[in-house]
Amino acid sequence: MITLGVIIGSTRPGRAGAEVARWICRRVELQLTLQVDLLDLAEVALPFLDEAEEPSTGSYAHRHTRDWSRRIAALDAVMLVTPEYNNSFPAPLKNALDFLYAEWRRKPVGLVGYGMTSAGTRAVAALLPVVTALGMVPAGAVHLSLRQRLAADGRLRTVEADNANLDGLFAELCELTALLRAEAVVAP
Ligand SMILES: Cc1cc2nc3c(=O)[nH]c(=O)nc-3n(C[C@H](O)[C@H](O)[C@H](O)COP(=O)(O)O)c2cc1C
Repeated sequence: MITLGVIIGSTRPGRAGAEVARWICRRVELQLTLQVDLLDLAEVALPFLDEAEEPSTGSYAHRHTRDWSRRIAALDAVMLVTPEYNNSFPAPLKNALDFLYAEWRRKPVGLVGYGMTSAGTRAVAALLPVVTALGMVPAGAVHLSLRQRLAADGRLRTVEADNANLDGLFAELCELTALLRAEAVVAP
């Protein structure tokens, strides 16, 4: 079984991100080899990075950092759910990524971007160099145009192509996780 951490990158009240994450969790339930751990940054409520040591040292003074570290270390793979804010991804998501280092390293990562005008494409483009710097292994991305998919009642109305794209991303994440596990066994 592969534990996929679904991280909701937006924290504002009434965010569409919670609805996008719900869709991802519903699709995970249809997968035999995946289980989900939902990590809502609004609930995790990290402060702005307040550790004196660099995250790459793994030396954490604060309990909130150690708790976040434990939750990320327990995951096999990660799905970052990001809105597009001003052509990029939101600050709480960058902050949550910056808090840790080794915990992200060599973890397969899928990106689900959404937005109004560009379907989250620029958010995903901005996020890619960040996850790469952390040593994560990008598995691909799914994009949602909220203009087309978000109904007046705030519910997400995905179409079959969205589901197929997401399922394809799950498959990539599973394959990369298996490959990286095998490499970890072989590597000294
Ligand atoms: C601060 C802010 C900046 C935004 N900038 C963009 C943008 O650059 N491109 C875009 O397509 N949508 C933009 N939007 C629209 C958001 O993508 C849309 O409101 C989405 O629902 C935000 O995600 P959230 O509801 O999960 O916070 C912006 C929204 C906010 C709040």
